Amino acid sequence: MSTLSEANQRWHSQLDTSYQAFLESLTALEFGLSRKQWSTFRQYLSAHIDFEQANIEPLASNWESNTLKLIQSDHVILNRLLPRLDKAFTQIEQADAPRTELVRQLDTFIKMRNVLEHHDLREMENLYPLLDEQLDSDRVEALAANMDQARRALEKP
Ligand SMILES: [Fe+2]
Ligand SMILES: [Fe+2]
Repeated sequence: MSTLSEANQRWHSQLDTSYQAFLESLTALEFGLSRKQWSTFRQYLSAHIDFEQANIEPLASNWESNTLKLIQSDHVILNRLLPRLDKAFTQIEQADAPRTELVRQLDTFIKMRNVLEHHDLREMENLYPLLDEQLDSDRVEALAANMDQARRALEKP
């Protein structure tokens, strides 16, 4: 049996690993590989946010704390960063001096990592452990299994 905190952690680890791989190939100016890794990361992040918006956020809707508001606003920020990074990536790829453009845009790419780290802490401190405690264990197990399944559905054969 797996808790929701554990299932969320598995997905966040996947995000960390794929973003790290993307940054490594991007900073090596390996654009072919980098584009593939970017699209993998993007897919995993969008699907995770979609899953949480549909299945997790409603569970915290009547909490007195402002946890839900903060988590929702993180999700909005993350969703807005995706097209910004997309644009920055294309500008680097098409630049006459890609390394110069990469250095110019570096903050945008670091921002994504910072927001993710911050968001991870927020969910792992103020959201998932509370849900694991409040919900029936059957419900926790079923939701965690759904979350794992949604993540695995993205894995390429
Ligand atoms: Fe999450
Ligand atoms: Fe989230």
